[in-house]
Amino acid sequence: MPAIYAYAPGKIILTGEHAVVYGQPAIAAPVQEVRARAAIEAEPGDPTGKVKILAPDIGLDTSLDALPADHPIATVFREVQQELGVDHLPAMTLTITSTIPIAAGLGSGAAISVAVSRALSAFLGTPLAEEAVSRIAFETDRFYHGTPSGIDNTVISYDRMVFFTRGKPIEMLANPESFTLVIADSGEKSLTGKVVHSLRTQIEIDPQRFNPILEKIGTLSRSARKAIEQADQPLLGSLLNDNHSLLQQLGVSSANLDLLVRIAREAGALGAKLSGAGCGGNMIALVKIGDAENVATALLSAGAINTITTTVPKS
Ligand code: PMV
Repeated sequence: MPAIYAYAPGKIILTGEHAVVYGQPAIAAPVQEVRARAAIEAEPGDPTGKVKILAPDIGLDTSLDALPADHPIATVFREVQQELGVDHLPAMTLTITSTIPIAAGLGSGAAISVAVSRALSAFLGTPLAEEAVSRIAFETDRFYHGTPSGIDNTVISYDRMVFFTRGKPIEMLANPESFTLVIADSGEKSLTGKVVHSLRTQIEIDPQRFNPILEKIGTLSRSARKAIEQADQPLLGSLLNDNHSLLQQLGVSSANLDLLVRIAREAGALGAKLSGAGCGGNMIALVKIGDAENVATALLSAGAINTITTTVPKS
């Protein structure tokens, strides 16, 4: 039996991070330039009958029965088996590789869960639909995040730009004109769960200060949706700038992120903001396609450790 391969893209949050945890809408898009890959090979000759798991990028070389029950990979296996009603697994080797930077706001954890769910369900004979894959990735995201909003697993499973509101049906965004983003990694690692938890504590202490900011971010995401649907990139750019200011007010930016955002604007970006949990990780800049290289070079000179230029296609 040939190996089964499955893939999942990275993602960025265009607007609405953090506010989305509290019921406000947010917009996210897949990033096809980076991806996670899961490969499964049957091992019919293996006398141990075990499920081997290899993730060379993170030095993982183990077997399924050696993983703690709440480990994301163990969770994916359990959920896929439950979904398909499969009690006994045949011997196999699962190899996971990924070009998505870890702990950088690009959805690496959710992408691995999505790729593994797809590969395992196909290997077991019934490829799961997006909805089930997304639900399983949400379960595993709890391991990394504690209280994820569900935006990462949704955008990565459906592989389309989404307008996402927690607990509401997913809305795919119509995009009449493709647009270009430069994504830059600040080099500061940031753990989403930690940032979300610390913000939650502050909101609980001072809701009067924070709730209006979260609401403003929700309103901004609705305006950004219109700007995208009307292909108004200058407006979208200025909304990204406004979103960055609101994220600064939430206290989730950093000196490095602020610097990169400023440099991107000075280099000609239509707008720029941090993307994801903040306190490190990535920022994004909306650029005219001809300015992408200039902006990326300026960001690297200012200390970004990596840039990715991505196009959000027409849809
Ligand atoms: O995974 P990240 O770093 O892109 O952050 C997720 C976005 C948050 O809104 C901060 C958290 C969430 O669960 O939506």
